[in-house]
Order: sequence, then C-alpha cells, then structure tokens
Amino acid sequence: MPSGRVKVGIIGSRFEADIHAASFQMVPEEAEVVAVASPTPGNAERLAKEYGIPRFFLDYREMLKEPDIEMVTITAPNALHAQMTLDIANAGKHVVCEKPLCVTLAEADEMIDTCKRKGVLLGYAEELFFTPKYVKAKEMADQGAFGKIHVVKQSEKHSGPHSEWFWDVERSGGGALMDLGCHGIAFCYWFLGRSPLKSVYAQLGTYVHADKTKGDDEALCILEFENEAVGVVENSWAKRGGMFDRVEVYGEGGVTYADLHMGNALPTYSEYGFGYAVEKAPTTTGWSYPVFEEHWNYGMPQEMRHFARCVRGKEPLQATGEDGRLVMQALYAAYASAGMEQKIHMPYKPQAKRPIDEWLGRKAK
Ligand SMILES: NC(=O)c1ccc[n+]([C@@H]2O[C@H](COP(=O)([O-])OP(=O)(O)OC[C@H]3O[C@@H](n4cnc5c(N)ncnc54)[C@H](O)[C@@H]3O)[C@@H](O)[C@H]2O)c1
Repeated sequence: MPSGRVKVGIIGSRFEADIHAASFQMVPEEAEVVAVASPTPGNAERLAKEYGIPRFFLDYREMLKEPDIEMVTITAPNALHAQMTLDIANAGKHVVCEKPLCVTLAEADEMIDTCKRKGVLLGYAEELFFTPKYVKAKEMADQGAFGKIHVVKQSEKHSGPHSEWFWDVERSGGGALMDLGCHGIAFCYWFLGRSPLKSVYAQLGTYVHADKTKGDDEALCILEFENEAVGVVENSWAKRGGMFDRVEVYGEGGVTYADLHMGNALPTYSEYGFGYAVEKAPTTTGWSYPVFEEHWNYGMPQEMRHFARCVRGKEPLQATGEDGRLVMQALYAAYASAGMEQKIHMPYKPQAKRPIDEWLGRKAK
C-alpha cells in the first residue's frame, strides 16, 4: 500500500471545490491536492493558482489518467455524480462524492457496486458527521446524557442556491429537500445509530421561487425510525438573512441545542460593512453575525482528513455510499408523501425515476 500523503484530484472549481481545496490545506499531514479539473476555461487554473495545486485540466477524464492520483473528490452538479463516480472507480481511484449521492436509486446501486467491484472506497461527503458541535451532541447522547431519545431535529435554511443549476431539477434532481434535506435525513439516521427507517411524511411547497424552479423551496419532513425515535428535518431555500443550521435533541432525561452559526458568531453592528459575514448573508451593514473558522466549524477539513486516513487504512469509512443510498430512499418516500398527501411506510418502492418526480408527477394530476 502506498504511504505518505494521499494524492487528491478535485472535480469542479467553484463553491464546494474551493471548500475542498481549502480543507485539504488545513490537514496537510494526511493529503495534498495535486490536480483539479473543470470544463469552463480558466476556472480550474484559477483554483490551482489560488491553492498552489500543480496540475489543472479541462476534462476530468484526462485528470483520471494521472497515475499518482489516489482519491478524487466530486464537486460537480448532482446529475453528474454517478457517471463521474463510475469513471473514477474504473480508473482505480478512490471516490469522495458530494451530497446528494446522485439523483436516482439505480445510480446509487451502480455507484456502490462498481466501487466494490473495483476495490475502491466510496466516501459520501456528509460533513454533518464531522461537524464538531454536532459530534459533541452525539458523543453526549451515546454516553447516555439524554436517556432514551425520542426526537432529533435538524434544520438547514437559506435564501436559495448560489448557482443556477440547482434551480433546474434536471440537473439538481430536486429542490430544498433534495439539496438540504439530504443533510438532515443523513444526520438523523446517523445520530440515532442507523436505526432502520419505518415511515416518512413530508409537506413541500414552492412559495417564493416558483419563477425560477419547479422544485420545492420549503420542506418539512418527519422520519420515524424503528427504535421509536422521530427525526424532524426542516429545510428552506426561502429564508432570508444568511445561513441557518441547527440541531435539537430531546430525550427522556435531557435536551441539547446546537446552533452552528449563532453559537459561533460575533453579534456585530456596522454602519460601513466589511468583507464577509456568513454564507448567503446579503449584506454586512447593520446587524450581522459573522462566523470565524467557518470550514472547521462545519467539519469540512475533519471530513477530508477522515477520507484520506481511510485510503491509508488508518480508519474505517464512517460516511459511506450506503448512507447516501439510504438518504435517496428517504427522499423518494418524502417526495411521494408530499405528492400523495399521506405518510409513507418503508420500504417504499419508487414509482418514478427521480425523487422529485414522485411529487411533480402527482401534483400535475
Ligand atoms: N456539503 C455541502 O455542504 C455542500 C455545499 C455546497 C455544495 N455541495 C455539493 O457540491 C456539488 C457542487 O456544488 P457547488 O455549490 O460547488 O456548485 P457550483 O455551481 O459552485 O460548482 C459546480 C462545479 O461543477 C463543475 N462542472 C460542471 N459540469 C462539469 C463537468 N461535466 N465536469 C467537471 N466539472 C463540471 C463546474 O464547472 C463548477 O466548477 C453539488 O453536488 C452540491 O450539492 C455540498
């Protein structure tokens, strides 16, 4: 087995690619990014210059021919995740795929099977498994701090995505539930010890952004697990004022609240404004809540360190393709629930190709 720092390639060059590049720089003992690939001329080169990445490519398939690259992270639009995963695995390299894993269950199966067959890891980039504040909540829960837990709630909300492809369900595969709910579903499942899902109920709507998308911009989802606990997942693409990310845990013997931004922010008033407050905040004048060490507080460098250590066999994989597949199953059931206006009992056999079609197809009738 090779030793030393894991050599990483990144596919994509914008929002999440920047976070991956910055995160790997924070864990230099485990990994180094040696290449980046992105189809828009100039973009991969710009990211490479910014982070001192030696090689850049327009076509990711060319990057996959580089023999020294061991692990490739995917930060491209959701509908491209499956093909990219297959190409990376077939090139004999380990895969780290951003959330959501893909846009159909058939794709999830093919991704998992191909990676198994090729003997490469399929890491599911769910950073909430590594977010320090949320990890602390889980450690306390596992130590029995709250007794038997009956409700776990995860909310992620902002005013809407930063890139145009998210609004197009053909490329994103869904709306706020798909984009942000995938975090909450994965979180509740992980937090509750991966207890199997018993039922899913969802209420979805497009309240603010119907001019831009067929997808949902408000999503409320209730997940019942076999261990009798309930997961509540709240998401929005229509919440003003910057990013909101919060967890609540209720047990028979205790409770904890973890607000990712407010607890780590500096309540600030400025007449003049300044550089940056927090993701999706529209302004820095007046009252704002600037965060610090944002990537670290999200758990991004810790997540990338984990995947690199898995490649070296130092840790077992904690965020897997199977986790991403479970999230896909819940997404189909949640969109179907909203479409049928009823609770869905698991296992649910998808009736439509993609999760969002379970809702859109029934809405149209
Ligand atoms: N974990 C998180 O919290 C988080 C946050 C943001 C985005 N994401 C995920 O990361 C992925 C990318 O989102 P983003 O916000 O960076 O989007 P973005 O629009 O900022 O960037 C998308 C990138 O994909 C590249 N791309 C498009 N087509 C390509 C192709 N054929 N080959 C190679 N690259 C291609 C684009 O050039 C661009 O660099 C999505 O799956 C998204 O869900 C995760």
